[in-house]
Amino acid sequence: MNRVALITGINGQDGYYLSRFLKSKNYEVHGITSCSKPGIGEPPKNCHYCDFAEGSNLNKIINEVQPDEVYHLAAQSHVRLSFDLPVYTAEVTGVGTLRLLEALRYYEEQSQKKVRFYQASSSEMFGKVVESPQSETTPFHPRSPYACAKVFSYWQTINYRESYGMFACNGILFNHESPRRGEAFVTRKITKAVARIKLGMQDKLFLGNIDAKRDWGFAGDYVEAMWLILQQDQPDDFVIGTGETHSVREFLEAAFNAVDLDWKKYVEIDPQYYRPAEVELLCADPSKAREKLNWKTKVSFEELAQLMVEADMKLTQQEKILGDATS
Ligand code: GDD
Repeated sequence: MNRVALITGINGQDGYYLSRFLKSKNYEVHGITSCSKPGIGEPPKNCHYCDFAEGSNLNKIINEVQPDEVYHLAAQSHVRLSFDLPVYTAEVTGVGTLRLLEALRYYEEQSQKKVRFYQASSSEMFGKVVESPQSETTPFHPRSPYACAKVFSYWQTINYRESYGMFACNGILFNHESPRRGEAFVTRKITKAVARIKLGMQDKLFLGNIDAKRDWGFAGDYVEAMWLILQQDQPDDFVIGTGETHSVREFLEAAFNAVDLDWKKYVEIDPQYYRPAEVELLCADPSKAREKLNWKTKVSFEELAQLMVEADMKLTQQEKILGDATS
């Protein structure tokens, strides 16, 4: 019989890549999303609705789906926005995880079935880093309501493992991007603007702190790590990243270079995109994942910028044709 996976936040970037990956491994994939669109049509097959800010129907969904593996990706995941919505972010990104863990504990107790649980932990937890690169043993110093909520979820995951013997694991993922990345995150904001500028649809790109450094990889590679983490004999926590760090400035250069433009002519700084507290530098030490999971990234920083620009060029060209046809 096929194994059953339940992915929360299935409509996000990682949900997209993970569900494709698991289907290629013959899983029956179910998803939870909060983006209900009543009136537009029937919900897609195996799609369940739940808002992690309250989670009242989680027990029902888990009972119905009877998952072997649960990948908890749902969150209010935008760091800047979490400063405007701190309580909502704590509810969804923090307490939401606890709601799910508690529902799974109850399900395990009732059904006598074991479930493997993956928590989407984040490199943002390292925040004001105390050492570089950051590994599984680096202490946390969260710098946003989002990061504080993720630290809460990280420890709840470990707490359920240690208290109830649950197979609960953290993947501490560094930034991972793709053409499916939301447009409010810096890489996609840049690649979309590059395409629009190249096609004459936009003049300027406004950004915040372009000196911030991140460890950026390709999301398609990272979902395999999530799966590998749940295939180990023992539940454990893993840092997942490339081991390389680059500034936003370097990403700008790579993205504009991909279409032969000089970024300096188009980019302006707008303080509205600054954060009350910034995470200046993130860089992963992924040795444990390399050793125990035999995992490493396959797409380089330059390739990532290039593939995102190419995808946005195609998308924007189509939008332009559609716009011209309807105007
Ligand atoms: N979003 C955004 N928009 N970021 C900007 C901008 C801008 O206009 N200008 C500069 N930046 C800087 C941010 O200040 C930050 O230092 C960096 O670009 C990356 O910002 P994001 O792409 O928004 O990602 P993030 O690093 O804050 O968080 C992402 O990665 C985490 C993993 O480390 C998110 O995906 C989190 O959910 C995830 O946990």
